[in-house]
Amino acid sequence: MKKVITYGTFDLLHYGHIRLLERARALGDWLIVGVTSEDYDKARGKINVTQTLSERMEAVKSLGLADEIIVEEYEGQKIDDIKRYHVDVFAIGSDWKGKFDYLKDYCEVVYLERTEGISSSELRSRDRLTLGLFGSSANVDKIEREAGFVNGLLVGGKCTDEADYDEMLSRVDAVYLYARPERHCALIEKALLAGKHVLCETPLAMKKADCARLQALAEEQELVLMEALKTAFSTAYGRLLLLLKSGKIGEIVSVDAACTSMEALSGLGREELRDKWNSISDWGPTGMLPVFQLLGTGYREKRIYSRMHPEDPSFDLFSRVDFIYDNAVASVRVGKGVKSEGELIVSGTKGYAYVPAPWWKTDFFEIRFENPNENQRYFYQLEGEGIRNMLAAFFQAAVHGIRYQTIDGAVTEAISGVIGDFYEGKDLKVLGRPM
Ligand code: CTP
Repeated sequence: MKKVITYGTFDLLHYGHIRLLERARALGDWLIVGVTSEDYDKARGKINVTQTLSERMEAVKSLGLADEIIVEEYEGQKIDDIKRYHVDVFAIGSDWKGKFDYLKDYCEVVYLERTEGISSSELRSRDRLTLGLFGSSANVDKIEREAGFVNGLLVGGKCTDEADYDEMLSRVDAVYLYARPERHCALIEKALLAGKHVLCETPLAMKKADCARLQALAEEQELVLMEALKTAFSTAYGRLLLLLKSGKIGEIVSVDAACTSMEALSGLGREELRDKWNSISDWGPTGMLPVFQLLGTGYREKRIYSRMHPEDPSFDLFSRVDFIYDNAVASVRVGKGVKSEGELIVSGTKGYAYVPAPWWKTDFFEIRFENPNENQRYFYQLEGEGIRNMLAAFFQAAVHGIRYQTIDGAVTEAISGVIGDFYEGKDLKVLGRPM
């Protein structure tokens, strides 16, 4: 029996796929189809795949052309599969011409002419979302650059001034907002009332109640309101959460996160500081993310300790926020005038998770135990600091209503709540003299 194998993502199964599979099938008596896993696709930069692995496998199966369907999970697997299944022919579309010649050592390699005029990328791009960018910062430039990697997401306008905001809103389906944090709430509200989806830097609002109101408005309008917290969308961070929630280190007893970035802030006057973000607004949301996602938002007590800038008593150059839960504690350290090791440590009853600096854009973490032989290291490719995945998640939520990847509304509100309390001086202890 002559065995043929072929591989693909087979997202939004189309005529090109069918023709490929028919011809591959005709090369032998038994066709094995390898469908790529979500992780493998992400690792090779395919972040836009619309359908889940099981949907794609089901679609291939329903054609009745494959005798066997397997999952392709890792680089180099093709050699393993060819040997394991005693494959005679490896077939693939001509867009890969030459790329798989190394398999000739193991079996016959056939490149089949690709069908012109159709592809999954093109089908995905038919669903469009035009994004308007508000603000001027390196973040805005990054969003613009990374949007190019998400099929169907188009940057349809940019503005830095509120005077131009209405006009931009009239031309786009969604907006990305980066403004001074206290302006976010009004900008979001305006966009939602205009029927636009919103992706906004955190905090979304300076008060928990405002944040809840905005979320309710988004829900009422059937729009997506998402915070642009890129860390939440990095694969390594996402996997870390899942591992910890499934009890890998036992019961979680402590979460310690530090995020610092030095900026030349000393000597600046109050006016100059107005355009800068203080430590708690800039880094607080990222630092609090693992705390609330792992321990929940129902802490018993919290305390914020800050040292302030001499020119502005609300501009913290460093803050530490301590949370006390019934059975756990957490501490978040953020600073723009103080430097520290930007690591994340989650301690549990059986072991701990260590994410090295800068943990908020890591591709690696380690689960450590008393016996170092049991330690496990995890690596995941991180493309575009997580921004690319964040934009893909935003697109999926806005266009296809798929929201499982987004941040829980209670976490968003809790983050705004802590920042709001800082500004109201609630649970805040200002330390000694300004720095
Ligand atoms: N294929 C083909 N003709 C097309 C599209 C795909 O012959 N018009 C073949 C590919 O060469 C590959 C297989 O179908 O052998 C699976 O390809 P896949 O990457 O899943 O499909 P694409 O449409 O190319 O997907 P994308 O646009 O995401 O790259």
